[in-house]
Amino acid sequence: MSPITPIRDQEQLHARLNEITSAYPQDQVFLLCDSNSRQHCLPLLRQGKLETLLPDTHIICLPAGDQHKGIDSLALIWQTLSQNGATRHSLLLNLGGGMITDIGGFAAATFKRGIDFVNLPTTLLACVDAAQGGKTGINFNGLKNEVGAFCPAREVLVYPAFFQTLDNKDLACGYAEMLKHGLLSTPQHWQEVLRLELPDCCQAAFSDILMRSMQVKADIVAQDPTENHLRKCLNLGHTVGHAFESWSYEQQQPVPHGYAVAWGLICELYLSMRLLGFPKDRFQQTIYRIKEVFGALPFSCKNYPALIEKMHHDKKNTGAQIQFALLSDIGQVHIDQTIEEKTIEESLDFYLDFMGY
Ligand code: GLY
Repeated sequence: MSPITPIRDQEQLHARLNEITSAYPQDQVFLLCDSNSRQHCLPLLRQGKLETLLPDTHIICLPAGDQHKGIDSLALIWQTLSQNGATRHSLLLNLGGGMITDIGGFAAATFKRGIDFVNLPTTLLACVDAAQGGKTGINFNGLKNEVGAFCPAREVLVYPAFFQTLDNKDLACGYAEMLKHGLLSTPQHWQEVLRLELPDCCQAAFSDILMRSMQVKADIVAQDPTENHLRKCLNLGHTVGHAFESWSYEQQQPVPHGYAVAWGLICELYLSMRLLGFPKDRFQQTIYRIKEVFGALPFSCKNYPALIEKMHHDKKNTGAQIQFALLSDIGQVHIDQTIEEKTIEESLDFYLDFMGY
């Protein structure tokens, strides 16, 4: 488990980084970023005191984008560590979105059989999802996250000021995972997430609700770190969501992961209501909020076979059955639910009807 440390302001950020790095030899601190986080977030670290705090830090910068989360970038990180004398007692600071925390975590997990790493997520999505929970890895052979390891960060520093340069679309991607955490936790937390406005997400007052959202995942991961049972509930919305994501990619009109998950939540909450009695009023409040924030993905019933085919390829399935994590109420999760194709199609019918297609 990684401790999650909320950071209020730049002074506290510098103080905490100073405390963390003082446990490592001065020339043994490495910082991984990408071209986006170098431009927008590294200056926040370096302003003022940090240059004197971390004088010998080696910066490793990757090009931005998930297509760079591969073996070449991994080799570059290993090579930079190796050529600059990194040891088992080195530290890697991962400053970036999920691509950086995933690949940086994996590089650290494997270099000299494992060095420490600290995540500084710079997107809301990475903060609530990738940066915590110990999943690290790279894309390989055309497949996402094909090679990786479970290895928790030594600490996750949460500094919402990093999100100030994100646009609403990026914030919405993180918001989708927060909605999922709300559904998996308590009515109170679900309500506070529903009421949240995207621009609030970079404000200091947002920190409490963000920490509660992160804690939902942390509590689940603590009970099942390697996803043998309970952690599968974090896939709520993702069985249909991944199908939407890869189908839209094939149509050459790719939609962001968070949007696909939000639309997937509509279908999976429909299934939850239809099969497990999820309350109708809570269903409606959630789906209207999703429509308001995310709009709609256009498709038609002609696309059902392609979408269902994609659900069959979901990693969580066992055998030929499509498996879901569903809810009988907020926080009442049922994993490994096998659903017949005609019922899945019914949820897609509901989606199209609700969106007015
Ligand atoms: N993103 C889901 C998980 O970390 O298990």
